[in-house]
Amino acid sequence: MTKPIVVLKNLSKVYDLGEVKVHALRNVNLTIREQEFSCIMGPSGSGKTTLLNMIGALDLPTSGRVIVDGVDITDFSEGEISETRCKKIGFIFQFFNLVPLLTAIENIELPMLFAGELSAREARERAKELLNLVGLGDRLYHRPAELSGGQQQRVAIARAFANQPAIVLADEPSGNLDRITGIEILQLMKRLNREEGQTFIIVTHDPAVAGIAERVIYVIDGRIAKDRPKGVAPPDDSLIGEMKINKERELARLRFLRKQIEILKRDLLIFNQRRNEIDPLLFRKIKEQYASMIEDLRKKTRWLVNYINA
Ligand SMILES: Nc1ncnc2c1ncn2[C@@H]1O[C@H](COP(=O)(O)OP(=O)(O)O)[C@@H](O)[C@H]1O
Ligand SMILES: [Mg+2]
Repeated sequence: MTKPIVVLKNLSKVYDLGEVKVHALRNVNLTIREQEFSCIMGPSGSGKTTLLNMIGALDLPTSGRVIVDGVDITDFSEGEISETRCKKIGFIFQFFNLVPLLTAIENIELPMLFAGELSAREARERAKELLNLVGLGDRLYHRPAELSGGQQQRVAIARAFANQPAIVLADEPSGNLDRITGIEILQLMKRLNREEGQTFIIVTHDPAVAGIAERVIYVIDGRIAKDRPKGVAPPDDSLIGEMKINKERELARLRFLRKQIEILKRDLLIFNQRRNEIDPLLFRKIKEQYASMIEDLRKKTRWLVNYINA
């Protein structure tokens, strides 16, 4: 057996919304080992994203410990957490989250420039290799809008790999793609897991995807309801219950948008500190991009606030 790469101990997360407290995770214990390819499944609102955000240090638990690669990161400072995130963890999201004005290759260079360990030329070389690896060697200079959804997600996967993370986290990576493309994307991740050896943890609704995984972890109402190796029958549907679509969920989305804005602002700050190391033209371009992404998220936030209050 390989060594544990993520250990969650008695992890709980409570979102305090004033009158209501949402128990998003309840005393979760989980060990993920190096090179595992695991899926997290469960109904909407059951805590999957929260679980992934805890592992990826995008958010802090209310109680319990998060241990990544043998290091307890629960009490890390903001700076230390950013560093762990940047160097050890690659993220893939449902909506790709690529910078629209940057080309595919520039999008992949970005996290390498943040990490600050490669020269501009080395970063470019590695970005090219990564695009080849995901089958987009002929799309280096395309912008996201000039690529299909599946191709954009491939770029996002290459970007997640930029800093050779030990762990790749994906939150419904096929959720915004047609079925066939979604399965192709998952197969690509599985291939990378086999060939490059990264640990993958993937949240998904797609049973076909779960079929590719070695391990399927079912989360229901903030608890791990079942944790099974491949080939064992899933829990019966009565456990899954109804889809929750309610105000609480919209509020959750709002918090998440705000969190994203916070993260972008922090990244921008780090980026600003490194301005001397980056070509001035590229620097300006990226900075404008950040501004427009933040503005975009703010617009969505305002819209959601109106929607919730309506
Ligand atoms: N930032 C947040 N603020 C308040 N409540 C939240 C927040 N994030 C999630 N929640 C709530 O926690 C529960 C779990 O949410 P989430 O982890 O997003 O579920 P899933 O990803 O399984 O759909 C839900 O009830 C949701 O409304
Ligand atoms: Mg989710």
